[in-house]
Amino acid sequence: MNQYIQTHKDRFLSELSELLRIPSVSADPKCANDVRRAALFVKKELEKAGADFAEIIETEGYPIVYAEKMIDPSLPTVLVYGHYDVQPPDPLDLWHSPPFEPVVKDGKIYARGACDDKGQMYMHVKALETLVSSGTVPCNIKMMIEGEEEVGSDNLEYFVKKYRDRLAADVILISDTSIFSNEVPSITTGLRGLSYLEVEVTGPDRDLHSGVYGGGVGNPINVLCDMIHSLLDENNRITVPGFYDDVQELTPEERTEMAKIPFDEIHYMQKLGVEGLKGEKGYTTLERVSIRPTLDVNGIWGGYTGEGAKTVLPSKAFAKISMRLVPNQSSKKITELFKKYFESIAPKSVKVEVRPHHGGEPAVTPIDSVAFQAASRAFETAWGKKPIPKREGGSIPIVALFEKELGLKSVLMGFGLDSDNIHSPNEHYGLMNFYKGIETITLFHQYFAEMMRK
Ligand code: BES
Ligand code: ZN
Repeated sequence: MNQYIQTHKDRFLSELSELLRIPSVSADPKCANDVRRAALFVKKELEKAGADFAEIIETEGYPIVYAEKMIDPSLPTVLVYGHYDVQPPDPLDLWHSPPFEPVVKDGKIYARGACDDKGQMYMHVKALETLVSSGTVPCNIKMMIEGEEEVGSDNLEYFVKKYRDRLAADVILISDTSIFSNEVPSITTGLRGLSYLEVEVTGPDRDLHSGVYGGGVGNPINVLCDMIHSLLDENNRITVPGFYDDVQELTPEERTEMAKIPFDEIHYMQKLGVEGLKGEKGYTTLERVSIRPTLDVNGIWGGYTGEGAKTVLPSKAFAKISMRLVPNQSSKKITELFKKYFESIAPKSVKVEVRPHHGGEPAVTPIDSVAFQAASRAFETAWGKKPIPKREGGSIPIVALFEKELGLKSVLMGFGLDSDNIHSPNEHYGLMNFYKGIETITLFHQYFAEMMRK
């Protein structure tokens, strides 16, 4: 490992722990002060790491932390993006240790945000420090760390348009994804988009006695379940008319390439505690979770859910539904198609309201760019293995936005593992991934600067 990282590794970890102690949950208004505290912490750390300056730029929502280390305007510039906000920690009772009291166990640090994305974002702060301290910053580095990624980055478009000139760069570098495994490192070459919405189904104008009225009145929960059931057919294809119209299919060659990834389905099921899998007919599990669109219920509620039993036929039922989208699909269009269809399948016994939440567009990133080659070389040096390209199923809305607004492609050089429990209880991040990640990032900057000169 790089000597500087080796010497300072314990301090790096305790600084990260300090950041992890701040409950910067962007979805929860009660955490507003903490989200801002996290922004301030990141700003100060960037200053300490040796940035020329770091500042907090206000938006309509949470601020963006922006920093620069400019060496020479004639050298290439890398714009690093990351986020300091985290997902809600619920359900709290399933955590083995409190989500905002980081602990190190078996070579991993446990806390909400340990991997997504505080741990991964902080690697860039430490990579900057490592380069600055040795006087070897090889290119210009700009950093843009936002606080609303987990709630859809609603204020980013305005920000990117307003600061277009300042954000000028040759490439975007993001560590907010995963590698296939520690033995098989990978670089992410595509992300899915997202349409997220909430539906409300209303039956009778008040809750009713389920014995007095049951059987004669449409129960909104039963109706909602029927409606949701009908959104997928027997082949697990989405029935919303027009849903697949814009889907970009992979070529047979691309699918063959994907099938070479050493994916072990039995191990996958064991790790998830399931005895069978489910998904769209005609596609492998790896394809289903990356290059195919999906529809999932993320939450469903209504009626009586307290202790014991209450006989009630509820007035309302609700669900939160997400659709993951693949290249060429448009989040706005899919949301509209869904809304129209969902309203059209509602029986007369209920009224339906569809409320769109946030969304994000899918993205693919090139594998023939200088930046991708530099990332590949950086992995080879630090991990001793050439990384494989891999499409992923999660979403990072800024990737498509950067391309649209700045004409810039991203390199998705993440270091997490799918088993790190992001968005889930007991989120963690391997210390090896953290330290090796820092090293890989410093190497990326060196190789990128060097290869851009040629
Ligand atoms: N880091 C994730 C995205 C991710 C996870 C990409 C795993 C690839 C592999 C990111 O922080 C995230 O969770 N994004 C949200 C985006 C949404 C709120 C618009 C997501 O995917 O649900
Ligand atoms: Zn996330």
